[in-house]
Amino acid sequence: MKYLIAGIALTAACLAGTAQAQPAGTANFTAKANALLGRMTLEEKIGQLAQIGGVAFIPGSPKPEDAIRKGQAGSILWISKPADINRLQKVAMEETRLRIPLIFGLDVIHGFKTVFPMPLALAASWDGALIERVHGVAAKEARAAGITWTFAPMLDIARDPRWGRMIEGAGEDPVLGAMVARAQVRGFQGNDLSSPEHILACAKHFAGYGAADGGRDYDSSYISDSELWNVYFPPFRAALDAGVSTFMSAYMDLNDVPATGNSFLLQDVLRKTWKFQGFVVSDANSIGDLVTHGFARDRKDAAFRAFTAGVDMDMASGTYNENLLALVKAGRISEAQIENAVRPILAAKYQLGLFEHPYVDEARSKSVIGAPEYLPLAREAAQRTAVLLRNEGGLLPLAKDAGKSIAVIGPLADARRDMLTMWSGFDVDTSTTVTVLQGIRNKLGSGARVEHAEGVQIAKQYRSMFEDLLGMKKVEPWTEAQSQQEFTKAVELAKRSDMVVLVMGEAALMSGELASQASLDLPGRQQELMQAIAATGKPVALVLINGRPLNLTWASTHIPAILEAWHPGNEGGNGIADLLFGDANPSGKLPITWPRNVGQIPIYYAHNLTHQPEGSRGFSSRYWDQTGAPLYPFGHGLSYTNFTVSNLKLASAQVKSGSPVEVSADVENTGSRAGTEVVQLYIHQRAGGASRPVRELKGFEKVSLKPGEKKTVRFSLGKSELSYWNSASKGWVLDAESFDVWVGQDASATLHTEFTIQP
Ligand code: NOJ
Repeated sequence: MKYLIAGIALTAACLAGTAQAQPAGTANFTAKANALLGRMTLEEKIGQLAQIGGVAFIPGSPKPEDAIRKGQAGSILWISKPADINRLQKVAMEETRLRIPLIFGLDVIHGFKTVFPMPLALAASWDGALIERVHGVAAKEARAAGITWTFAPMLDIARDPRWGRMIEGAGEDPVLGAMVARAQVRGFQGNDLSSPEHILACAKHFAGYGAADGGRDYDSSYISDSELWNVYFPPFRAALDAGVSTFMSAYMDLNDVPATGNSFLLQDVLRKTWKFQGFVVSDANSIGDLVTHGFARDRKDAAFRAFTAGVDMDMASGTYNENLLALVKAGRISEAQIENAVRPILAAKYQLGLFEHPYVDEARSKSVIGAPEYLPLAREAAQRTAVLLRNEGGLLPLAKDAGKSIAVIGPLADARRDMLTMWSGFDVDTSTTVTVLQGIRNKLGSGARVEHAEGVQIAKQYRSMFEDLLGMKKVEPWTEAQSQQEFTKAVELAKRSDMVVLVMGEAALMSGELASQASLDLPGRQQELMQAIAATGKPVALVLINGRPLNLTWASTHIPAILEAWHPGNEGGNGIADLLFGDANPSGKLPITWPRNVGQIPIYYAHNLTHQPEGSRGFSSRYWDQTGAPLYPFGHGLSYTNFTVSNLKLASAQVKSGSPVEVSADVENTGSRAGTEVVQLYIHQRAGGASRPVRELKGFEKVSLKPGEKKTVRFSLGKSELSYWNSASKGWVLDAESFDVWVGQDASATLHTEFTIQP
């Protein structure tokens, strides 16, 4: 699998500002939308621009039935049961004049009923084909329930793990992020949106949400133009090139202008430069919130500013229904502008085939949703997204020797709900979710003694609205005596076992929306327990269930094996057991730089050199109290076999500007097991019109090799890989300069060569 070519298309399109690729027949849907618009009253048109909350999370929201009957709903949010969807659709189809079907939208971010690993974990697979298959299943199940629109993919580049929503994206890198974006859009939308297999995707949150100050959710983002174009925009542009139907505006202020009222983002970039043809929805209540920001004077002003900035559909704030008619009557918004907003919404409804088939087949939904045939993919995804961070002395994989005793210890060892994330559906059914404990038991059967102790309890400190919304019960805290007893019980269990699998990390709702953290330390007394268990002298493998990098500084030198399993989904426990016992070989790679502790944040590999890079002129550290180097670099991930990358060659070291630079390297499996490596190529531009990052990922290839097998990987660095957006000239440039190239297994690769671009 090679991802460079698509990268070329990405930037080439950015440079040229070419129009969005449209699925075949789109013009036809637009023509139908135009014909329908010709029959609609102004009020009916405005009604299509409203999305009504199916779950009343904003006080005073109308009941969906009432809004639909009044012709004040184009879409409904957060309803996921087929019978409820049909009931509401029936109101639209039988009780409104023009019988325009509704679009039902939901956050289907890593599966609908069959829950796959969380999105950041999927990015850790560096595997577009896998990601596409996963979202293909998610789309199929969601569509079978009557959902026709997912609020995914989240494409926000995130470089601050305190931000809880890092889990929903693809991490810190624009090239990896763009690959993941394309795969997600293809998975959700496929080639035919009218098929029962696909749904509309939504590129969110446009743009810059991941740069929230201090990692505090919803806080302002301040992002330079150069970072916007070079880092934050590319995944969105990639989604657009893949044909994404919708965009969502973001909540936060971008450089002081709320993204939902930001015409630079929604008009200048999205419509004018990129020629986006679909429709833009606001985030939930984000139009109403323009008043809260201190940006709009009142709700009417908010509606005006969001609409004129380019937000076509209002998610749940009610401001469009309340104000657009008056704004048109007052001549501040024209009817033609309203039609421009409605047209792509109606076109999407035609494209989804909703006019012909507005209802969902409830009988069919039962056989499609949660069908056992998807479980192998969920298990495979769990295997391929886990990242082996450390494996000192080859502790893993474990032998399956019958008769051995294994202690599976930790608060997350048998916590089903925590295998999933916050957004794993509304009526989360964990009855079939496989925990690590269960996965190990399934693997070893009755032959081995597998015992479990929780040891410590973890709990989120504050409840957000999501705990209530999702019906999460408050965990009763153990008493002091109980805590001591459970702790001791776990240590005793470790002592009488041959080895320990520790399962630690974070509960599901500790990351996601409204779940930022100031600390990256393992919550609760997990660190203490880990140290007590390590002190028993038993071999310990640590499995992490979590949504963000945590402080593993102590573990990274004291715990021989560390497997980052993320929130791995329904089949997580089986997939992890496959990895622990060698039935699968880890191949995941970090999509983020792993800090040593919270003080290093933000930390990302593609930083600039500065006038005095670390290690130069006698400076060994950027901090006085520790190295500036991360604990694990971006792209890191071990395997049970070994790979060597060698023989880095250039077709020519002097290349005319505009011609591609051809790079090749050999990768060989020098170990004794079959395995998969992601060969990564990084460049650095040595001089030019701007300081460029010390390294930038520009290509990667995932290669599976048998023991002793060797392959040559080839990369082609074209105009798009070598160009960047320059903040001085305010445009894309390709400098005729010298470049370093590294090819290897992570962002610290040392195999190096260089080339020069000639004018
Ligand atoms: C708010 C979140 O920011 C957004 O990502 C989500 O799609 C909407 N709520 C709807 O659930």
